[in-house]
Amino acid sequence: MQFRALCLGVMLASGAGRAADFVGPESCKACHAQAYDAWKQSKHARAKDSLSPQQQSDARCLSCHAPNLADQNVSNVSCETCHGGGQFYASSYVMKDPELLRLVGLVDPSEKGCRTCHDASSPSLQPFSFVEKLKLIDHWTAEKASRAEAAPADVAKRQARDPNR
Ligand code: HEC
Ligand code: HEC
Ligand code: HEC
Ligand code: HEC
Repeated sequence: MQFRALCLGVMLASGAGRAADFVGPESCKACHAQAYDAWKQSKHARAKDSLSPQQQSDARCLSCHAPNLADQNVSNVSCETCHGGGQFYASSYVMKDPELLRLVGLVDPSEKGCRTCHDASSPSLQPFSFVEKLKLIDHWTAEKASRAEAAPADVAKRQARDPNR
């Protein structure tokens, strides 16, 4: 308990939760290979590449196609664009503590978050349907299944805490 409190103190003092500090998608891949592979196939992972060279230096386009490029040097719509900067949560001992995780920067992606980019000014012909679009970016089903296989007791505990999982 004391160790945890100390770590939290150090992390908060060093600014976690305020300035999001990104570690980049390759760092997440080390522990989330399946999520990474699914994301890599998605348009989000190529959002900058679909711009012309000239558009790739246009801040107006980058604000949705690579929003963290200028300040975090992470391109495209990446893990941390949706989940929050991982510097303070991307370690296995923090990852296992759902409360601490969220205190030090993990964000639960929401429909509102999607809509910051999928709004009326994006070139889609159809209005954004959260439920439908969510299915198209599924990178969690395989992750959760393999986790359940690896540690059935852990998953049961998490489900008891949060029945939505
Ligand atoms: C050192 C290994 C490791 C790294 C690096 C890592 N994770 Fe995790 N992550 C885990 C583990 C293990 C779990 C499962 C925790 C559990 O269920 O006990 C997890 C869980 C998660 C969850 C679900 C958390 C919850 O409580 O709902 C998300 C989201 C997540 N990771 C995103 C990321 C992102 C994004 C990155 C990169 C910035 C990342 N992780 C880097 C090991 C890691
Ligand atoms: C408000 C956020 C936003 C801004 C700003 C934005 N885009 Fe997009 N863009 C999107 C979204 C969201 C999509 C995906 C739409 C869909 O298919 O539902 C998209 C899709 C595209 C596509 C189609 C890619 C493909 O795979 O077919 C191109 C090309 C594109 N945008 C170019 C641009 C250019 C050029 C600019 C700057 C002038 C720009 N965008 C600015 C959000 C934005
Ligand atoms: C466009 C936003 C977005 C991007 C980009 C994204 N994610 Fe996710 N992620 C989500 C959403 C939404 C969920 C679903 C949460 C839910 O409903 O369970 C999710 C779920 C997850 C989960 C499962 C969490 C759980 O509850 O067990 C993990 C792990 C994860 N993402 C890791 C990653 C990694 C690693 C990357 C990059 C390789 C990434 N995500 C990229 C939005 C995103
Ligand atoms: C930072 C901006 C941003 C956020 C946040 C974001 N997206 Fe996107 N999304 C884009 C851009 C840009 C594209 C187009 C990529 C391309 O093809 O160049 C896109 C494309 C997509 C596509 C593929 C095109 C389509 O409509 O079929 C899906 C699906 C999608 N997004 C779902 C989501 C969901 C669900 C969320 C929230 C969990 C989300 N996005 C959050 C910027 C964003």
